Formats: sequence, C-alpha cells, structure tokens
Amino acid sequence: MGLWDYFIFTAISLVWIFICHRANATEECDLFSGSWVIDEAYPLYNSSGCPFIEREFSCQKNGRPDILYTKYRWKPLGCDLQRLNGVQMLERFRGKSIMFVGDSLSRNQWQSLTCMLHSSVPNANYIITRQGDVSTFTFTDYGVNVMLDRNVYLVDVVREPIGGVLKLDSIHGAKLWKGIDVLIFNTWHWWNRRGPTQPWDYIQVGNEIKMDMDRMLAFNEALTTWAAWVDASIDPTKTLVFFQGISPSHYNGTLWKEPRAKSCAGQQEPVTGLRFPGGLPPAVDVLKSVLRKIRKPVKLLDITLLSLLRKDGHPSIYGLGGPTAMDCSHWCLAGVPDTWNEILYNLIL
Ligand SMILES: *[C@@H]1O[C@H](CO)[C@@H](O)[C@H](O)[C@H]1NC(C)=O
Ligand SMILES: *[C@@H]1O[C@H](CO)[C@@H](O)[C@H](O)[C@H]1NC(C)=O
Repeated sequence: MGLWDYFIFTAISLVWIFICHRANATEECDLFSGSWVIDEAYPLYNSSGCPFIEREFSCQKNGRPDILYTKYRWKPLGCDLQRLNGVQMLERFRGKSIMFVGDSLSRNQWQSLTCMLHSSVPNANYIITRQGDVSTFTFTDYGVNVMLDRNVYLVDVVREPIGGVLKLDSIHGAKLWKGIDVLIFNTWHWWNRRGPTQPWDYIQVGNEIKMDMDRMLAFNEALTTWAAWVDASIDPTKTLVFFQGISPSHYNGTLWKEPRAKSCAGQQEPVTGLRFPGGLPPAVDVLKSVLRKIRKPVKLLDITLLSLLRKDGHPSIYGLGGPTAMDCSHWCLAGVPDTWNEILYNLIL
C-alpha cells in the first residue's frame, strides 16, 4: 500500500468512525439531560379550561402576572420528546387504572395529567370521587381511572398508645396498590419535617423504637422496605412501576448563583445551560442506590435536574397561602409537572 492509499484509507476510516459515533449519539437518547427552550405551542393546555385544578397550583388564577414560564418545552440532548397526545393515551389505557402514590408533589403531577387528558377531550364525561386517602378521576367514556393515593412516607404511620409511630419496615398501605396497571411512587419532602408538622412521635425499625434518627438513613430504610414490596408483589406483565424522582425546591439563590435570592420570588426564567450550579440534592443518590438493587423493572422519572433548572416554575406568593406564604416547593399548573407527564407518556407508549 502506497503512502497515498494509506492516507485515503485512514481518512475514510476516520469519517466512518465519526459517522458511527454520531449515529450512536442520536440513538442514545437520555430524556433527562437537556435544556429548556421557548416554544409558543406551549403550554399543553389552558389552565382556565381545567376547572378542577386546586387553588394551590392555580397560579394564574391567584394573580401571577407573568406567563413566560408556561412557554418552555424540555429539549433532551439527543432527541425530542413526543408531545403528549391525550386521546392516544386514553385509548391506550382504556379500562385501566393509573395511580400516583405519594405526597403533594404526587398531587401536583396527578392534577397535571388529569388536566392534560381532560383538555384533549373537553367534552368527554368525567367524575371525581374520593374514598379515604384515594382520589379517583374517572374518564367514564374510556373507563380510565387516574388516581392519587396520598401516602407521604410510603411506609406506615400507626396510632399506638404511646403516640404516632413511623414504622420503617411496615408497608400495609400497599393494599391500596393492588390491581393497578401503572403505579408512580414518590416520597421525600416529608422526611425532613420536624416540630408541629411532623405527623409522628416515634420512629420504629424492627423492634426498636426511637425518638428520632438520621433522616437520610430513615429515608433509605423506608425505600428499601418499599423496594422489597415491589420485588415480592409486582407482576411486571401486569403492572408498570415508576418512581417520580426527587422534586427540588428553590429557597437558596446561592445554588443558582444569585446569592441575594432567598427564595423563588420574582423568578421568571429558568437557569440556562445543562447544569444546575448547586448540584443535586443528596436524596437523589439514596434513591438511585435503592433502585439499583430492585430486581423487578422500575423506571425512575429522573426529573430532579430538569426541575432544578426551573426556579421560575413555583407558585411563590401565588399559591395556597397567598402573599404571606412563599411556596417554592410545589409547581404552577400549567407548568413543570406537565413535562414529568410528557416523559412518562414517552416511556409508556
Ligand atoms: C384560556 O381560556 C380562557 C377562558 O376560556 C380565555 O379567556 C383565555 O384567553 C384562554 N387563554 C389562552 C392563552 O388561550
Ligand atoms: C445556601 O447554599 C450555600 C451553598 O451550599 C450554603 O453555604 C448556605 O448555607 C445556604 N443558605 C441557607 C440559608 O441555607
């Protein structure tokens, strides 16, 4: 082979390697890395066409004047999210039940999904019922139930003679999750509660009852109990299991390089770029390490980073508490949870 042939050969090889690499990069679509782009075709629904949105999430109705925050679309790096098609989703789940299990962040995502589905079939009949901790939104024409089981720790809190006991290895609440076709779990925000809003007096692991313990360890114990339940009880041919992921709050501007901000008040735009300067909350590592040990298929909706970028997406003073409260934990609807549901949609269709 002459020098010239060698040169041509090398050049062709390099081009080929380059092409293969590019093709691989596009095939490998990570839905959870990307950035927010403005898209005038958003939001996916008009919140005033969604009469059942709770006041807590109805930022526009509560007087929030800016609307740019409703106009962002999540753009994953190597691909595009398919826009949620409500009719297609209702057809796909005809006769089936979807249940969110968790705290008010689950309620946030549940309301977002019911709004999106309702707005795609505004004339279809629906009823909302509630039994104990379970709220059910039924699209009667499709026989689709979109449900919410309010269960803030996933494991049990039991009233006993000594007081409320948070039992890290007991999960009787799971009886409500039987026979559901899609389960989306979430727990985190209540693990750091102390004082009057902590709904238990003691914490129990095995036979040991304590006043308190390291909350991250407790979170890990509870998730491990939940993981064992998934392995023992889920039939993957019948039930799809998701974990919603850790939804972040925005109370410390130092984390997004705006040290004077003490909350999300007045934020009207996302953080630009692919990274959140302050990094991820430590609970994410705990959650991921537990999920890695589950043998049954459980898909993490890894929404932490994309939501961290959305310091503009919270109700702030346009939430439940009004001007005297500052809610930088929940999310306005229409808004960020719509994207969580679009990702869910992309993963199940
Ligand atoms: C949303 O619906 C309300 C009431 O139907 C209407 O007044 C408003 O213009 C709509 N907003 C958008 C952005 O379409
Ligand atoms: C905000 O975050 C910075 C950086 O992690 C930390 O040093 C500071 O203590 C935090 N402020 C508050 C009020 O938590």
